[in-house]
Amino acid sequence: MEIGKVGVVGCGLMGSGIAEVCARAGYEVIVREVNDKLLQKGLGHIKNSLAKAVARGKATQNQADQALARVRGALNLKNFADCDLVVEAAIENIAVKKEIFAELDRILPPHAILASNTSSLCLTEMASVTQRGDKVLGIHFFNPVPVMPLIEFVRTILTSDETMELAHQFGASLGKTMVTAKDTPGFIVNRLLIPYILDAVRIYEDGLASKEDIDTAIKLGLNHPMGPLTLLDFVGLDTCLFIADAMYEEYKDPRYAAPPLLRRMVLAGHLGRKTGKGFYDYE
Ligand code: 3HC
Repeated sequence: MEIGKVGVVGCGLMGSGIAEVCARAGYEVIVREVNDKLLQKGLGHIKNSLAKAVARGKATQNQADQALARVRGALNLKNFADCDLVVEAAIENIAVKKEIFAELDRILPPHAILASNTSSLCLTEMASVTQRGDKVLGIHFFNPVPVMPLIEFVRTILTSDETMELAHQFGASLGKTMVTAKDTPGFIVNRLLIPYILDAVRIYEDGLASKEDIDTAIKLGLNHPMGPLTLLDFVGLDTCLFIADAMYEEYKDPRYAAPPLLRRMVLAGHLGRKTGKGFYDYE
């Protein structure tokens, strides 16, 4: 089986990035959003990111134009009938994901691989609503997708060797480096990242140091590109809280329990960069 056409469900921050890297690697891409406004916004993200890649010398204008021409928008999953691989990057809600997986299972050709970009939800549960458990896996990208070199594969007890092999060929064609984890909440990266981020909020809440000093300490003391609170604003406080809650629900380990400040900031709508305010102001 050769992958020629890729479907992406969701054209938000992650979906648009996934669609972009697939189009740049030469795949025909179809990306679905729930309404035209969100679709146009997502396609706009792809256009802007490609323009940035050209400005930074990562692509020629011609390559960017060709990549953009390979991306088609859709509002209905019925348009995914000729996809060889689909990456679902819709909201982090298991009920929504199961609905999408069940629908795609009916629409896709029998050979197609069905993947989710989930950062914490159970892949086996998504596979359970399909008749193709052997072709279901997690393909977890990192934000910003065109820049971050890693893909984390999540293999369930149902995923076949053949699916893993095809996923590796696909990841390599995108120019990414790949690691594989079992289907447990957080996989590798978030299993380590989330307790670290939660501890950063805890020490800030405890008054150990200012937010600027916490971030500077990690940036310059450990050579990380961003300190933990800047990274939290970058990823989104709601996203991190969601992942922490999912991990706590599964493991019941206090390391994954969200500190009160994080939950209150999310309730207050201080979600980070996307709302213009998180630990820092972006307006
Ligand atoms: N397309 C291609 N390349 C691009 C690009 C684009 N649209 N935009 C930027 N780049 C390239 C630049 O050319 C540059 O490459 P170079 O180093 O070879 O010159 C590189 O990307 C960095 O770009 P910038 O100079 O514009 O930006 P910064 O140096 O300020 O870095 C950053 C920005 C990459 C976001 C950096 O701050 C960083 O790595 N931060 C940490 C990000 C991180 O940890 N992400 C993971 C979050 S966790 C996650 O996603 C998992 C989820 O489940 C929670």
